[in-house]
Amino acid sequence: MSEVQFKEGLEDVVAGTSEICFIDGKEGRLVYRGYDVQDLAEQARFEEVVYLLWQGELPTRQQLDKFTAELGSMRSLAEPVRNLLGSLPASTNPMDALRTAVSLAGIYDSESKDNSYDASYRKAMRLVAQIPTMVATFERHHQGLAPIAPDANLSLAENFLYMLSGKQPDELSAHVFNTALVLHADHELNASTFAARVTAATLTDLYSAVTSAIGTLKGPLHGGANEQVMVMLDEIGDVDRVDAWIEEGLAQHKKIMGFGHRVYKTEDPRATILRRFSRELGEKTGTIKYYGMLEGVRTAIQANKALYPNVDFYSGSVYQALGIPTEIYTPVFAISRIAGWTAHVLEQYRHNRIIRPRAEYTGPSHRKFIPLDNRMV
Ligand code: ACO
Repeated sequence: MSEVQFKEGLEDVVAGTSEICFIDGKEGRLVYRGYDVQDLAEQARFEEVVYLLWQGELPTRQQLDKFTAELGSMRSLAEPVRNLLGSLPASTNPMDALRTAVSLAGIYDSESKDNSYDASYRKAMRLVAQIPTMVATFERHHQGLAPIAPDANLSLAENFLYMLSGKQPDELSAHVFNTALVLHADHELNASTFAARVTAATLTDLYSAVTSAIGTLKGPLHGGANEQVMVMLDEIGDVDRVDAWIEEGLAQHKKIMGFGHRVYKTEDPRATILRRFSRELGEKTGTIKYYGMLEGVRTAIQANKALYPNVDFYSGSVYQALGIPTEIYTPVFAISRIAGWTAHVLEQYRHNRIIRPRAEYTGPSHRKFIPLDNRMV
């Protein structure tokens, strides 16, 4: 099929237009709706960024107060979803739990049969509000603890940390977690967002699109890398062992988790911000050893390859200092990325055409059919 242009992994292929997010991979810039993510990370609340991604404009104070109060009032889970999260086997992968909980929540959503734009927007609000409750509820059960009901008076970032530990976070922890949520909120046509858009483009419902996205985010080449970075640090064990570990890993052609990116050809701007928090929180909480190992890994990799850290490289050490258990790092990614997934699904619904590319056929052709009894082993 000579007219079909094929690029492995769809590298650099433009697969759609979008007004939501811009990445400059050469300069290392990430922009949401025209605003540099660095400015948003320093100054905006996550709720403000969700509003921006969905509406295209930053909210006024009045709009933000109303939006935040609405989200706060939607945090409780439907009873069957709560029961599901309490009855899954202890060995359940937390991303599998989240994918299943979201799918079940779709069945019990009060507007499950309504796929209009307005109903989908309200479903998106419920998902932003409830995914943190799902993750915290699952994790509390996993630790053999009773789940903690959400507190509608806390911000989304504060409330998640509260639902995990039962304690209201201090100001620095709440600020750092809010920033991490802002940094992960959207990233153009990354694999999970593309999966969400492909699903939505069949005009199926928003819960189905988000379920596809969660399954896609789980993989170690995408959102699962943050957890794998911590697994790697635990394997390395000490800063003195970094060089030998990396040398051996590269000699075995191992992928070093948290490095490389399809779009960034320089450092991921999100990693730059998270590196600062990794050091600050590491010093404050006595976990600086992890920061030391991360910097050792970065130096060792960059001495050998032109590879830069991505967002997943430092986020795990930040979450660890915040007291978030390693097994839910990827679900924590979803707590933020639900904002971007739903923004893209809503945009897809507004200007929809089914997404249906072609494959370059590389199999055999013109084979003669052999009747069943004539086939040789
Ligand atoms: N460690 C070692 N080598 C690497 C790494 C890495 N992390 N990443 C890329 N390379 C090398 C590859 O081996 C390849 O080398 P070669 O040309 O000599 O064969 C070259 O760099 C190009 O790598 P590809 O895998 O082809 O790049 P691609 O754009 O397909 O993949 C990806 C990007 C998946 C992010 C890749 O860099 C990777 O696997 N990184 C580790 C996993 C990770 O951190 N994922 C999180 C990404 S951010 C996110 O999704 C939130």
